[in-house]
Amino acid sequence: MDVFDMKQRSILVGTVLVASALTIFGILMLRQPTLNSPGLSTSGNREHNSNSSLPTLSRQEQHESGVTHVLVTGGAGYIGSHAALRLLNDSHRVTILDNLSRGNIGAVKVLEKLFPKPGRLQFIYADLGDPRAVNKIFAENAFDAVIHFAAVAYVGESTLDPLRYYHNITSNTLVVLEAMASHGVKRLIYSSTCATYGEPKKMPITEDTPQLPINPYGKAKKMAEDIIRDFSKNSDMAVVILRYFNVIGSDPEGRLGEAPRPELREHGRISGACFDAASGITTGLKVRGTDYNTPDGTCIRDYIDVNDLIDAHVKALANAESRQVKTYNVGTGRGKSVKEFVEACKIATGADIKVKYLDRRPGDYAEVYSDPSKIRQELNWTAQYTDLQESLKIAWRWRKSHTNGYGPPTDEH
Ligand SMILES: NC(=O)c1ccc[n+]([C@@H]2O[C@H](COP(=O)([O-])OP(=O)(O)OC[C@H]3O[C@@H](n4cnc5c(N)ncnc54)[C@H](O)[C@@H]3O)[C@@H](O)[C@H]2O)c1
Ligand SMILES: *[C@@H]1O[C@H](CO)[C@@H](O)[C@H](O)[C@H]1NC(C)=O
Ligand SMILES: *[C@@H]1O[C@H](CO)[C@@H](O)[C@H](O)[C@H]1NC(C)=O
Ligand SMILES: *[C@@H]1O[C@H](CO)[C@@H](O)[C@H](O)[C@H]1NC(C)=O
Ligand SMILES: *[C@@H]1O[C@H](CO)[C@@H](O)[C@H](O)[C@H]1NC(C)=O
Ligand SMILES: *[C@@H]1O[C@H](CO)[C@@H](O)[C@H](O)[C@H]1NC(C)=O
Repeated sequence: MDVFDMKQRSILVGTVLVASALTIFGILMLRQPTLNSPGLSTSGNREHNSNSSLPTLSRQEQHESGVTHVLVTGGAGYIGSHAALRLLNDSHRVTILDNLSRGNIGAVKVLEKLFPKPGRLQFIYADLGDPRAVNKIFAENAFDAVIHFAAVAYVGESTLDPLRYYHNITSNTLVVLEAMASHGVKRLIYSSTCATYGEPKKMPITEDTPQLPINPYGKAKKMAEDIIRDFSKNSDMAVVILRYFNVIGSDPEGRLGEAPRPELREHGRISGACFDAASGITTGLKVRGTDYNTPDGTCIRDYIDVNDLIDAHVKALANAESRQVKTYNVGTGRGKSVKEFVEACKIATGADIKVKYLDRRPGDYAEVYSDPSKIRQELNWTAQYTDLQESLKIAWRWRKSHTNGYGPPTDEH
C-alpha cells in the first residue's frame, strides 16, 4: 500500500544477525524429525535419483500417489505460511524453502506443531539466489508442484533499491524455473500482483488490461511473468499466474498472522499501519491525499482476504493444465476507500486511531480494483471474506495476542 510514509530505511543489521543465529539453531532442531525418514527402499520412481549422493531415499524423494508434494517458496512469510497451513490441512505434503530474510521461523514452528507427523512438512533454509543450492534441493526432493511466493514486496522500497527487486524477484524466478525444468517439475503457481498493471485508465482491471507497471516492484514481477510465459511456449509445464490485489486478514482460528519485520514498518501496508497506531506503537495514521477524484477524496483499493487468496491457489493447483499459462486477477471486485478502511479498522480494534491527513504522495493513483469474473467463471472461485471489518477483526485478534510477532512473548498485554 502506497499511502503511507516510508522515510526510515535503517535496517538493524546487528539485530538481524543475532536473530538469524538463533533461528538457525531452531531450524536444525526442526529439520531433524522431518528430513530423514529411514526405512524406505531406494526404488524411487524418478530416473534422476540414480546418481543421488544420498544412501537411502527419504520420504520427500519419492512421489506418493494421491499426495501432492508442494514446494512453497517464501513459506515462512505472511501469505506463504497461510498457504502451507491450508495445503497441510488438505493432506498435501509441503516443503517450505525460505531464507528468513523477511519471513518468520515462528510461523514454521506453528505449522510443525500442528502437523508433527514425519514426512508432512519439511523446512529448508536456503536462498533462491543460490542456483546450486536450489538445484540440490530439487535433486533431493520429488516435488509435484511449486508455489513461488518468495520475493521482496514493498513498492516504496523498490523505488529506493531497484536492484534488490530485480534480483530477488526476476532473477530468482529464473532460478526456480530452471530448476523445475531440469528436474521435471511440471506445475507452477506464480504470485504476481496488480502492480504489474500500473495506472490503467479504465476500471475495473481485467486480465486483458495492458500491463504498464510504473515502479520496479511491478516491473520486476511483469518481467518474471514474461519469462514464465516465454518458457511455457515450448514446454509442457502447467502454469497459473495469480495477480493479487491488496492482501489483508489472517487465519480465523488464530494460528497464524501477519508479522512484518519491525524495520520494514515504515514501508508497510495499510493494515499494519492501522494496527501499529491502534496498539500505540506509532502515534497515529498518516493518510496521504484527500483530493483524489473519488467519492470521499481518498484512494480506493481492492482488499482481498488471505483465506480467499489461498483458496484461489488451491483451485489453481487443481486446475492447472499442461502447456497452458492461465492468468487470473484475485480480488473482490469492489474498491474501498482509505477512509472506509480506517473506519473499519477503528471498529475492529476498538481504538480511537488518530488520523493525520496530508498532501498526496507522488506515484499514488486514485483508484484500483479488479474484475474477478474470469477466475469465477473458470475456477469457480469467489471471495467469501468480503466484510473488511470482520477480516480486520480476525487479523487484530492475532496481532493483539502476539505483541512481539512470532518472537518470544512479551509481558505487556
Ligand atoms: N502482501 C500483499 O499485499 C501482496 C500483494 C501482491 C502480491 N504479493 C506477492 O505475494 C508473495 C508473498 O508476499 P508476502 O506478503 O507473504 O511477503 P513476505 O515478505 O511475508 O514473504 C516473502 C517470503 O519470501 C522469503 N524470501 C525472500 N527472498 C528470498 C530468497 N532469496 N530466498 C529464500 N526466501 C526468500 C522471505 O524470507 C519471506 O518469508 C510475494 O511474491 C509478493 O510479491 C503480495
Ligand atoms: C545427476 O543428475 C542430474 C539431474 O538430477 C544431472 O543434471 C547430472 O548431470 C547427473 N550427474 C551425473 C554425474 O550423472
Ligand atoms: C481443515 O480441514 C477440515 C476438514 O478436514 C476443515 O473442516 C477445516 O475447515 C480446515 N481448516 C482449514 C484452515 O483449512
Ligand atoms: C537471503 O538471500 C539473499 C539473496 O537473495 C542474501 O543476500 C541474504 O544474505 C540471505 N539472507 C539470509 C539471512 O540468509
Ligand atoms: C536481494 O538482493 C540483494 C542484491 O541485489 C541482496 O543484497 C539482498 O540480500 C537480497 N535479499 C533480500 C531479501 O533483499
Ligand atoms: C462452485 O463452488 C460452490 C461453493 O463455493 C459449490 O457449492 C459449487 O458446487 C461449485 N460448482 C462447481 C461447478 O464446482
